[in-house]
Amino acid sequence: MLSITAHNLSKTFGSVVALQDVNLAIRAGEFYGLLGPNGAGKTTLLRILSGLLTADSGELEIHAANGHAQIIGVVPQEIALYEVLTARENLKVFGSVMGLRGAQLSARSAQVLEWVGLEDRAKSKVKTFSGGMMRRLNLTVGLLADPPVMLLDEPTVGVDPQSRAKIFGLLSELHASGKTIIYTTHYMEEAERLCQRIGILDHGRLLAEGSLSDLLAKVKLPRFVRVHGAFEQQKLPAMDGVECTPHDDYADYVPRANSDLGALITRINQSGLRFERLEIKGANLETLFLQLTGTELRD
Ligand SMILES: Nc1ncnc2c1ncn2[C@@H]1O[C@H](COP(=O)(O)OP(=O)(O)O)[C@@H](O)[C@H]1O
Ligand SMILES: [Mg+2]
Repeated sequence: MLSITAHNLSKTFGSVVALQDVNLAIRAGEFYGLLGPNGAGKTTLLRILSGLLTADSGELEIHAANGHAQIIGVVPQEIALYEVLTARENLKVFGSVMGLRGAQLSARSAQVLEWVGLEDRAKSKVKTFSGGMMRRLNLTVGLLADPPVMLLDEPTVGVDPQSRAKIFGLLSELHASGKTIIYTTHYMEEAERLCQRIGILDHGRLLAEGSLSDLLAKVKLPRFVRVHGAFEQQKLPAMDGVECTPHDDYADYVPRANSDLGALITRINQSGLRFERLEIKGANLETLFLQLTGTELRD
């Protein structure tokens, strides 16, 4: 049975603490997301997990069932492709490094190119590709050897919405096919949408970990009502037991204690306030991140 376990991994670069005492236990077949802002240590952690980098201290144990030539496939954050070669030639070069040869390599290359929708561009040079196409080809390199574990480092950065949707679809398919996926992102919507378990990393520390609902249960902020409209501050009705925070084109009504939002909405309606739209806002990873770190997840 596959397992990846890390105990107290730490790594410094000069005076920069990139990772500090990170503990991680990844289960077989899991889709695990590492969420954190730039500089949090995500790439450093993936590089250690993939064996490209050694931790200063701590232990890493990776067990896999026999029969895989390669256990871990890596899709790096920086696109690593030869631009003067065609898509197929790139796969040939990377495939031979992985020990794939001849008919097996050709067949597998055709398969992964088709899978990411690049089969009709197999003979085009990579330098003619859009950013999204390069990202997708970058993904095929990690998949060539059909490893049971895939580590993907921000695979949607800098891609157009269409390629992004395509990559999401591919990742879901990979997961459904039984692969274990460890995925980093600084976009919380991605982590919320894709991952079964999420670890929140900031300044090299894993601050919280769990399923989305586990994590949201840690958020202390109650649900609140956001009314949209261009309000002038003095016209916003005050309400007992409710904090009203005006913004440019909306205002938040946050109950001081967990209270009945239905009753609050009725009070807002009865106050005669004219608004365009009303929304119930709940806890999300953003509010959790803010609560854990005191800062917003920087882009
Ligand atoms: N090879 C390196 N040399 C020096 N500093 C590094 C190196 N790699 C990463 N760092 C530093 O370690 C910290 C974590 O970086 P990284 O793991 O790339 O974060 P992330 O991927 O979350 O953006 C950053 O402060 C970064 O500047
Ligand atoms: Mg990174």
